[in-house]
Amino acid sequence: MLKKLFNRKRSDTPVIDRNIIPQHVAIIMDGNGRWAKRRGMPRSMGHRAGADVLKEIVMAADEIGIRALTVYGFSTENWNRPKTEVTGLMDLFAKTMGAEVDGLDEEKVRIKLLGRVEDLPLATRTIFRQAEKRTAKNGGMTLAIAVNYGSRLEITDAARAIARKVETGELTSEAISEDLLSAHLYTAGMPDPDLLIRTSGELRLSNFLLWQLAYAEFYVTDVLWPDFDRYELLRALLDFQARNRRFGKVDE
Ligand code: IPE
Ligand code: IPE
Ligand code: MG
Repeated sequence: MLKKLFNRKRSDTPVIDRNIIPQHVAIIMDGNGRWAKRRGMPRSMGHRAGADVLKEIVMAADEIGIRALTVYGFSTENWNRPKTEVTGLMDLFAKTMGAEVDGLDEEKVRIKLLGRVEDLPLATRTIFRQAEKRTAKNGGMTLAIAVNYGSRLEITDAARAIARKVETGELTSEAISEDLLSAHLYTAGMPDPDLLIRTSGELRLSNFLLWQLAYAEFYVTDVLWPDFDRYELLRALLDFQARNRRFGKVDE
């Protein structure tokens, strides 16, 4: 299917230009609750459907040649949801990762965790940490999963780590640069996202990658996350390919 959409000979259908594939795509997977509500189902069913969609999107992104995919799974603010929903999500994370890690490893996907993983329930954090460790040396696409992630907390933690190094004399305040700060974020070593996708229509960042998204292109769709699929991803990529990224410069 993807091959057809890449076929540049067919002038009647919009096609993806293989030369303008974003290196790093970040996704705020939103709308699971609304999807379930519209169907008269509990929110947990929306989350389950959302996990299935994530599998499809990871495979499609890998096939397309995206080098890094970062997905927002659980924010530091999401702890404020009802306990049953939080527990259900943590179980779903553990189950999904447990079921998918073999396939991801086979595809040479490298799993990276962004967030305060140490504060997740034991079973979830153990499965996540094992998956990260097992796939650490893989050379394929990086799949970064933001769980118990908050961007302000990430930047605050980075500031504290840097301050500590200044205190001990390992660093001088003069050595603090944008690159140094980036190197103290959870995303250290990853390029900044080129494209941010948010599903279900909300026009906000919800504390996601505030630093890293400085020059990302934003794509917001009303499609709810459980209804998102590879074609929606291709639509986002097509939209991205038509953007004029100026980075503050004047067009030539
Ligand atoms: C996104 O869907 C999943 C998580 C935040 C974990 P939501 O659960 O936020 O769904 P809506 O926004 O209520 O529809
Ligand atoms: C952002 O969605 C977090 C995730 C998708 C994991 P939320 O549903 O929590 O965001 P708000 O509350 O609408 O800003
Ligand atoms: Mg939401």
